[in-house]
Amino acid sequence: MNLRVPAISHDQSDELAALCKAGGDPLRLNVLRALSNDSFGVLELAQIFAIGQSGMSHHLKVLAQADLVATRREGNAIFYRRALPHTEQIGGKLHAALLEEVDGLTLPDDVRSRIGLVHRQRANASQDFFARTAEKFRAQQDLIAGLPQYRDSLLSLLDKLGFGADATAVEVGPGDGGFLPDLAQRFRHVTGLDNSPAMLELARAICEQKALSNVELKLADALANANVSGDCVVLNMVLHHFAAPAEALKQLANLLQPGGSLLVTELCSHDQSWAKEACGDLWLGFEQEDLARWAIAAGLVPGESLYIGLRNGFQIQVRHFQRPAGNTHHR
Ligand SMILES: C[S@@+](CC[C@H](N)C(=O)[O-])C[C@H]1O[C@@H](n2cnc3c(N)ncnc32)[C@H](O)[C@@H]1O
Repeated sequence: MNLRVPAISHDQSDELAALCKAGGDPLRLNVLRALSNDSFGVLELAQIFAIGQSGMSHHLKVLAQADLVATRREGNAIFYRRALPHTEQIGGKLHAALLEEVDGLTLPDDVRSRIGLVHRQRANASQDFFARTAEKFRAQQDLIAGLPQYRDSLLSLLDKLGFGADATAVEVGPGDGGFLPDLAQRFRHVTGLDNSPAMLELARAICEQKALSNVELKLADALANANVSGDCVVLNMVLHHFAAPAEALKQLANLLQPGGSLLVTELCSHDQSWAKEACGDLWLGFEQEDLARWAIAAGLVPGESLYIGLRNGFQIQVRHFQRPAGNTHHR
């Protein structure tokens, strides 16, 4: 008898098998959980899960082969993040369902505390930078993108939002305070929050020089003990200094009054790794889609955006995200 084996299309079943294999391991599922809102380097993940670097590299390779994680080069380091599912492709629906299930997992306490440690290491590096470089701050900022390059675009977006006479604003990380006079002119009350005493002194000098009587400056970590809220929260070139930017957007959304607006001015994703050393940047800008995705996860609704190309090759994004009038705070 001549038995004919039906032809199997290996391409597609191989892809599906790689996905199932990658998902078939508790450690890899927990890695995907840890990457739900963050990106980490291989050394950081090895530290977080308390395994050797080569073991972690192997797991990441399996996840990458199944398109469950993607990589992004940040200077000399490679950061891993979750890849987004493409539901129209083979395995896409399974991928989406897997991530949904993974998001229901609770990471073990020791893993969560080591994630906290990695975040603190990043945040300390950023804070040390501003403590050391306050006096040459403006020159340092101008290496990449200074306020004059995005001020008009930001103001045009801000003025379109039509805030009432009683509205209040919070500027997170005002740095040397260059944008505070513009805010003071437009809002009844402005709070500037900075966690660097040296930077806050620079902002204080501007407030005194311009006699800004409606600006209050507070030494505080905007992500921990801010204790303020406003109709408008402004974040100019600050997000790339935060240890966990997606998580940070959630905290910042909580500073918004219902119906309030978050205005984020940021660098678009770039590959100028010298910015890490020279400007204390933890992240080399952000993809536009990532900011929108993180804002949506923080309960915000993306509004208008402006993009500004600079002659030095950098590109700036000015983004507006709104907190719906009736929504409760995200935790
Ligand atoms: C690159 S500077 C931007 C300054 C200003 N917004 C500008 O565009 O010129 C970043 C500022 O954010 C502050 N900063 C960083 N992390 C912070 C945090 N967690 N809470 C409050 N301020 C923070 C830094 O101290 C610094 O003043």
